[in-house]
Amino acid sequence: MSSVLRIALQKNGRLSEDSYQLFKECGIRFDYGTGKLKSVSSNFPAEFLFLRDDDIPGYVEDGVADLGIVGENVAVETGRPVTTIHKLGFSKCRLSIAVPRGVDWTGIQHLDGKNIATSYPNLLGKYLAEQGVRAEIHEISGSVEIAPSIGLAEAVCDIVSSGSTLLSNGLKEVETIFRSEAILIARPQLDADKQSLVDKLLFRIKSVQAAKNNKYIVLNAPNHALDEITALLPGMKSPTVTPLATEGWSSVHSVLNENEFWENIEAIRAAGAEGILVIPIEKMIY
Ligand code: PRP
Ligand code: ZN
Repeated sequence: MSSVLRIALQKNGRLSEDSYQLFKECGIRFDYGTGKLKSVSSNFPAEFLFLRDDDIPGYVEDGVADLGIVGENVAVETGRPVTTIHKLGFSKCRLSIAVPRGVDWTGIQHLDGKNIATSYPNLLGKYLAEQGVRAEIHEISGSVEIAPSIGLAEAVCDIVSSGSTLLSNGLKEVETIFRSEAILIARPQLDADKQSLVDKLLFRIKSVQAAKNNKYIVLNAPNHALDEITALLPGMKSPTVTPLATEGWSSVHSVLNENEFWENIEAIRAAGAEGILVIPIEKMIY
């Protein structure tokens, strides 16, 4: 029997949409939604399981799933021996301590002898120990943000993304203790067939990510400025330069990294480039 990768995704939450989108961009089709718990891809040897994110590291450790997408916050908190095989760059968030807005925050020592509500007792406990703070940790599994208003705790330690949950509960963020993004985790010992499927999937993921981080750029340049302009546009190997119908001008095609984009684009214009087009790339294969 040929291998099928079992991949666990969050059923409903902050990671779900971006996870589905990632597989779509990798050309892997499967149905989801309407309470489905399981779905088989129609064009890749993969089966998807839709689970609560907190349970995913455990299922991956036990071998119920070969791979899973979770936040680093969940992976680290659960402490399961799974392998992080790739950072996915989406669902960025932070685990922070927050207190009621009116509190005059003087520093972490403020929490000495206080109660803190959280769903992340391990990460919080480790942080408090490092800071030498002795506080009482109240583990609750959800709606942590209401703990101060019902008198359960003086502070909370919870995931902050946009900050709107804190804001609407009258809380302010005072310390960030952990930064997180979505990661792809795997069962440590996959057999050779499954490993080769994982490699195939990773190749696609990296091509999608590379494309997102780069733009295709087309511009017109006076020939006297070509050396200067092409030096700013190394591209994947080197830029393509072809003559324009207008004497003394060339068309330059290349690829530019998103991070260097604005700085380079200014230098390129200053060197004399005109008619600059910047075009998104769908896939980028090295
Ligand atoms: C976190 C946290 C808040 C919300 C914060 O929940 O518990 O409810 O996100 O986001 P905001 O700053 O954008 O308002 P999470 O998505 O981790 O859900 P879960 O605890 O149900 O897994
Ligand atoms: Zn969760």
